[in-house]
Amino acid sequence: MCGIVGYLGKQNATGILLEGLKRLEYRGYDSSGLAVLDSGGLEVTKRVGRVKELLAAVKKSPSQAKMGICHTRWATHGGVTEENAHPHLSSDGKISLVLNGVIENYNPIRKFLTSKGYTFYSETDTEVLCNLIAYHYAKEIDSPSDGGTRFSQSVRKALHHVEGTYGLAALCADCPDEMVGARHGSPLILGVGNDEMLLASDVSALVSRTPNVVYLNDGELVHIRGNNFTISTHESEDVQPVINTVDWDVSEGEIGDFDHFMLKEIFEQPEALENAMRGRFSQDQSTAKFGGLNVTPQELRQIDRILLCACGTAWHACLTIEFLIEKYARIPVEVEYASEFRYRNAPLDKNTLVLVVSQSGETIDTLAALKESKRKGYTTLAITNGVGSTIARESDGGIYQHAGPEIGVASTKAFTSQLVIGAMLALYLGRLRDLSFNEGAEMVIGLKEVPDLVRKIVQQSEHIHTIAKKYVHKQDFLFLGRLSMFPIALEGALKLKEISYIHAEGYPAAEMKHGPIALISEDCPSVFIATEPDTVSKVISNMQEVKARKGQLIIVRSESCEMPDGLADDEVVIPDCHPAVAPILACIPVQLLSYYIAVERGCDVDKPRNLAKSVTVE
Ligand code: AGP
Repeated sequence: MCGIVGYLGKQNATGILLEGLKRLEYRGYDSSGLAVLDSGGLEVTKRVGRVKELLAAVKKSPSQAKMGICHTRWATHGGVTEENAHPHLSSDGKISLVLNGVIENYNPIRKFLTSKGYTFYSETDTEVLCNLIAYHYAKEIDSPSDGGTRFSQSVRKALHHVEGTYGLAALCADCPDEMVGARHGSPLILGVGNDEMLLASDVSALVSRTPNVVYLNDGELVHIRGNNFTISTHESEDVQPVINTVDWDVSEGEIGDFDHFMLKEIFEQPEALENAMRGRFSQDQSTAKFGGLNVTPQELRQIDRILLCACGTAWHACLTIEFLIEKYARIPVEVEYASEFRYRNAPLDKNTLVLVVSQSGETIDTLAALKESKRKGYTTLAITNGVGSTIARESDGGIYQHAGPEIGVASTKAFTSQLVIGAMLALYLGRLRDLSFNEGAEMVIGLKEVPDLVRKIVQQSEHIHTIAKKYVHKQDFLFLGRLSMFPIALEGALKLKEISYIHAEGYPAAEMKHGPIALISEDCPSVFIATEPDTVSKVISNMQEVKARKGQLIIVRSESCEMPDGLADDEVVIPDCHPAVAPILACIPVQLLSYYIAVERGCDVDKPRNLAKSVTVE
């Protein structure tokens, strides 16, 4: 949540900062602000609303400043107001600060600073830290013994007193060539450009300026002075920086001819799935292979249990992966919400492998679950789309999704790419155990067919749009599916909730009669997902139960799951496929249905209210 960008260089800072900030808007978009520093001092501009409001405001009084910091906010402390927007300015006017995270002990610090004469104009924890830095700056000497400056030392000292998580960037009115960044729990990346330095929450905000980046680790502080930088721990120990080169095509993050990023990303799924599979099948085409697992086949054969941990859509991916691993590899799997697992102190078998799944690689609950598992000594792996993300760096090994940037807040291509990787992992683990060569080879064929089958399904988008128009005014939906379609039902309900603000619930189809059936009426349509011929007759019975109660039926079914005439009010037929990949295909119509319902309701599909794409606070 929240995105920050900092710039110090030879170019006009405002344009560079705002271009970067626009790329971070997916992290939060209720308000934004910018602070620039030049010979006239610190100048702060803030606006409630999208970055475009800020852009309009700064255009009215252009600045020539060559350094600055900016922020797009997703409110945690305090309502959505200009006062609460970042950057904050200390009450003595010396320090300006942007922060992504939460300072948990802000209250006692605020009381202390108030007693020292500092004044607060917002309700935020960030303003408290900003003034704490100013307090130390006022007390600090000019040449501290750690080799830094009065400014960098004041940031370091302030951070010694705070509890919580942060990725931050700070400026000091007296220091026209210095910028300080620090991270603890929330991401911060340094961009090392030609005659310029940048800080950002995410590489997407700085790759148009430089491919050279340093991923800061927790507990590190970066001090930029002109063209140079030093990284040290909060305890002043020097850190040797590792400069990585990011391979990122900026145009991938552009919307192109699509109306929304979400639609673009739905349509990009064939390529995202191809990228997830590229180079990952064995030469004999009977199993998968992964370069970065860092676990030997022998070690994997010793695994008795797998624990899958994630949040939101990635948690739905875990439910599908559980189904696949148990079916094809016969290894018992448990799925946990990362936010619960981190505090639950769950007993795990000693031969448990912990696998976390996260599109961004920055979700704080998932990261905490990963760290807790590592602390206990478990081998940890990650499936993530976030190259160089904190989760990628903290896990023992893992599998990159290579789905390309996902900008729409509602996850689509990242989800199906997690499913395809889950199916390949189930295949790989299965082939290390009892899955035969022929079964493996059939699965490889099935996996390779998926991109083309998905292409066929997205071609039905206009048909799905027509269906969506009929249901635009409904306020409640049920999504129902059995076995591997249950997670898809949950995901369909989540998509609809997120972007249309319609109440929706996902249930195993047979569970409906144990309660949710009470909701069925003309006003509560049910989306049934049926792709498994073995259970289709049971699902048809559940559909009949809905029909008998005047409920409308939208049925997503595979070709071979034929329905009685007249049962469906509306229907989307998807191709038959290998059962391991059926969840991927079944997901596409529910993504499109949710998308078009949201569009027809006039909702802001890419930036739904109250949501942020990357949840880096608890
Ligand atoms: C997906 O549509 C959601 N916006 C959300 O549930 C998301 O999946 C969740 O926050 C986890 O994010 P991650 O995959 O980046 O960890």
